[in-house]
Amino acid sequence: MTATAVVPHSDLDPFSDAFLDDPYDAHRALRDAGPVVYLDHYRVWAFARFAQVRAVLTDPATFCSSAGVGLTDFRKETPWRAPSLLLEADQPEHTRARHAITKVLTPKVVRRFRDTFTQAAEVLVGKLLDRGTFDVVADLAEAFPLQVFPDAVGLPPDGRENLLPYGSMVFNGFGPRNHLFEEAMAGGVAVRDWIMAHCEADALSPDGVGALIHQAAAEEGYEPGERALLVRSFLSAGVDTTVHGLGNAVFCLATHQDQWQALRADPSLARAAFEETIRFESPVQTFFRTTTVDVQIAGVTLPAGEKVLTFLGAANRDPREWENPDEFDLSRRAAGHVGFGAGTHACVGQMLARLEGEALLGALARQVETLELAGPPVRQLSNTLRGLQTLPVRVG
Ligand code: HEM
Repeated sequence: MTATAVVPHSDLDPFSDAFLDDPYDAHRALRDAGPVVYLDHYRVWAFARFAQVRAVLTDPATFCSSAGVGLTDFRKETPWRAPSLLLEADQPEHTRARHAITKVLTPKVVRRFRDTFTQAAEVLVGKLLDRGTFDVVADLAEAFPLQVFPDAVGLPPDGRENLLPYGSMVFNGFGPRNHLFEEAMAGGVAVRDWIMAHCEADALSPDGVGALIHQAAAEEGYEPGERALLVRSFLSAGVDTTVHGLGNAVFCLATHQDQWQALRADPSLARAAFEETIRFESPVQTFFRTTTVDVQIAGVTLPAGEKVLTFLGAANRDPREWENPDEFDLSRRAAGHVGFGAGTHACVGQMLARLEGEALLGALARQVETLELAGPPVRQLSNTLRGLQTLPVRVG
């Protein structure tokens, strides 16, 4: 029997508006179809079960990142921007870049930001409480990271608004050339130029994380242009992800009042609430890999050079791994989810992301008594990210 004779095929389009708007039934269908499924629409292999997603992410020798972690195969097509030295690299290049970054993002450096982030969150939540009604996405989930993250990196105050459209280009750019891809890329030259200019050492304050990356990268022997590309990894991956994580967290709490009450009763659950959000409404839904050799998975042979799509969001709700996966439950041990990836490419900024989540959800829990929707939330579609465009709430 040939490999294609045993593998289930699916005609689902995971980058269609309908799928992205509400992926959970489709995730279930993909998981139930088998450990590996062939997506006819894009001629790629899909993994939606937790065990297989984890196995792919933790085997970078077989499932590489250097051919791109989006649909575009860098060996056949030119990517829209120079590949990341971190995300879109394999060892030994990846190990070297990762080493430079982890030398900077030590637990000690992250701890340095704890007080600043907490204080900024308390002030912001206090102001919003005075207003009573506001849009969680613009006023909280975007406003907070756009303040604390660029401060931490050492960016100047002007132009920070470029970070959001750039993130949209990056995360829509991992998908096919559909309308989301085209819309994100439209008019992007000025945004790209601003980002690249602000990855340079002379644009960054000397005491920020960006300057520390330049210094660590210089010690590793990187040229100035490469050092700037390492800073670009932060500006690409550090804002839209946390914006969606924070927005999704408030959405989950506002729509699960019992969990909101649990958090209010014990604000130290803020960290658990953020972690459970990353599992339950994973801000990063998918990433691709490419097979480097013929590989057998559950009796199916995937030839070398094939694109493989891992559904992180589906894995995080796989009932084969999680009890009551469709319940948002702060008392669960959500650690071990793949919402921050797994293995050598696991999110290098996860400590900073968690700190932002803990600070903001903690401030809400401490200051706000009532949190309820003040209108219908509007979803923001993205080829990679799951999050909201607007989320009107009333607080008291
Ligand atoms: C809730 C927020 C976040 C989520 C859900 C998230 C998710 C992820 C995921 C799933 C990966 C794995 C990529 C892969 O396996 O190909 C990743 C990698 C990465 N993340 Fe995050 N991330 C978040 C916040 C951040 C922040 C704040 C930063 C910067 C400080 C950051 C920087 C990076 C970088 C540079 C990589 C590439 C690491 C590598 O390839 O070695 N992320 N992230």
